[in-house]
Amino acid sequence: MKLLVCGGAGFIGSNFVRQRVMEHGDEIVVLDKLTYAGRRENLAGLPHDFHHGAIEDPAAVAAAIEGVDAVVNFAAETHVDRSIAEPDAFVQTHAIGTWVLLEAAKDRGLRYLQVSTDEVYGSIEEGSFTEDSPLRPSSPYSATKTGADLLVQSYAHTYGMETVICRGSNNYGTHQYPEKLIPLMILNAMHGDPLPVYGDGMQVRNWIHATDFAAAIGHVLEHGVAGEVYNAGGPDECPNLEVIERIIELTGADRSLIEYVEDRPGHDRRYSLSSDKVRALGWEPRVRFAQGLEQTVAWYRDNSAWWSPIRSGDYREYYARQYGRALGA
Ligand code: NAD
Ligand code: DAU
Repeated sequence: MKLLVCGGAGFIGSNFVRQRVMEHGDEIVVLDKLTYAGRRENLAGLPHDFHHGAIEDPAAVAAAIEGVDAVVNFAAETHVDRSIAEPDAFVQTHAIGTWVLLEAAKDRGLRYLQVSTDEVYGSIEEGSFTEDSPLRPSSPYSATKTGADLLVQSYAHTYGMETVICRGSNNYGTHQYPEKLIPLMILNAMHGDPLPVYGDGMQVRNWIHATDFAAAIGHVLEHGVAGEVYNAGGPDECPNLEVIERIIELTGADRSLIEYVEDRPGHDRRYSLSSDKVRALGWEPRVRFAQGLEQTVAWYRDNSAWWSPIRSGDYREYYARQYGRALGA
């Protein structure tokens, strides 16, 4: 297949491109705006045609989409804390960007896969969300992602467009920008910096390795029924504090680095997905959290050339804005 992968220079998008090139021999076109989270280095050594542009720009989309068989949309603003501080780009990319892409795919009769998130369902105290659970997003990030999902479904319903949606739980693995819990804690632990725990640290996330989520997206792209939604959750759940304690153990850091800080406003307590529907397509997660976390810590330890430019760039300003007051930095 020849795929247009929007947001392919980001964390999960680049893991997906690697898998599709290496394991499926697909031809790849990447359209990416290269925001702070997008990096061409993430695609190093992978054959692809790269277009630098935004999904909300019809001309950039028209240039990239020519001759492809399907569109896979990863492009998004992805950090909940940033959506609370500055929601503007979230509305722009998720609402306008998804609409522009859908129009272009509809005009050309292309299959379209929207990469989505368990956060559209909101928080769940017990049990797991199925694809039929009500949508109750809590943050500007998840609300705009929900809006994008609804727009995608309206194109299937109204125009008969061949769309599928794949909703993932919390991803971790290589090439994740160090604003997210796991890479932030790994790098801070390695540098002897404070480990900021929001609230009581007992929020639970359903961790999935990025290669497992990429494989689920591939399965849904190839075998998913048009108009349907598929959840892809990881095999393990873990409270944040336990994740941090495991990272302390794996890096040999000192437990006294843990600092409890003010909670995230509107913080969802627990996420959990039932993945029965995508499992019925033949997918299952391969990486257990304990093993995947150990490999992830090792990757960050061995790849300072990847994260050094990030930690010394604009990231410092973001970090000071997000944590400065709480950590007295
Ligand atoms: P990321 O922030 O690492 O990468 C996002 C990519 O999209 C970057 O390369 C960025 O440059 C690009 N981008 C952003 N706005 C764009 C625009 N307007 N036009 C073109 N490109 C743009 O994100 P990620 O963690 O890899 O997430 C990818 C997708 O998976 C997102 O849709 C996200 O909502 C979804 N998702 C993420 C997780 C997770 O835990 N990270 C879990 C479930 C679903
Ligand atoms: O559930 C899927 C979602 O997972 C994706 O859709 C999002 O794109 C992705 O960012 C992620 O959202 P979370 O908000 O769950 O991830 P984050 O890494 O920001 O936080 C994970 C948990 O850790 C959450 O309960 C907040 C907490 N946390 C996070 C940071 C950055 C802390 O306690 N301290 C921190 O410094």
